[in-house]
Amino acid sequence: MRNKCQSDKIKNFVLRQALTSDSADILEWRNDRDSRSASIDQKKISQSDHERWFCQVLKGGEKLCFIGENTDGKIGIVRFEAVGKKVWEVSINLNPKFRHLGWGEFLLGEAGRYFLNMDSSPRILRATVKDENFASRRIFEKCGYIFDRKSGRNLFFQYVGKRG
Ligand SMILES: CC(C)(COP(=O)(O)OP(=O)(O)OC[C@H]1O[C@@H](n2cnc3c(N)ncnc32)[C@H](O)[C@@H]1OP(=O)(O)O)[C@@H](O)C(=O)NCCC(=O)NCCS
Repeated sequence: MRNKCQSDKIKNFVLRQALTSDSADILEWRNDRDSRSASIDQKKISQSDHERWFCQVLKGGEKLCFIGENTDGKIGIVRFEAVGKKVWEVSINLNPKFRHLGWGEFLLGEAGRYFLNMDSSPRILRATVKDENFASRRIFEKCGYIFDRKSGRNLFFQYVGKRG
């Protein structure tokens, strides 16, 4: 299965900004059981809360979302949300159908490079990962994020953005 990701990812992969037509998929993935248990806020997101948030995403600016897809469908989403001057919180959520196949590392890497190259201002990327979320910890580390500190069950990673 991992080999499938390896061979298809380069051939068919496209990264693009999220569109209105992605809204229902993003909410469904977010409310998936594994995704909720990996989230800091584990409650189910209501349609109305999601729509309010997604409206801001579509306007761009301080909340940006990228969708990775290939000919088999939408692979997942990477979100970047401004949390301070130059600092952006990054998170990733795969379509459940694409989990555990190696796509997480690839999508996170592609989205990070794209985001850092969007403009020339220096950016620091920050990620918060639950200590028991080994797959997520691993992909952030493999994409160059450095462990910063631990607080309770949360591990904080940082990537001081280099473009290119
Ligand atoms: C977390 C997520 C992004 C990981 O992406 P993925 O492509 O499914 O990751 P994989 O299962 O292929 O695992 C990635 C790596 O972690 C390793 N890993 C997975 N589970 C592990 C475990 N329990 N212990 C140790 N390592 C583990 C894998 O071996 C792999 O390492 P490798 O590339 O060196 O072989 C994805 O599963 C997802 O979207 N989950 C739900 C939402 C979520 O948790 N988001 C992150 C919030 S911080």
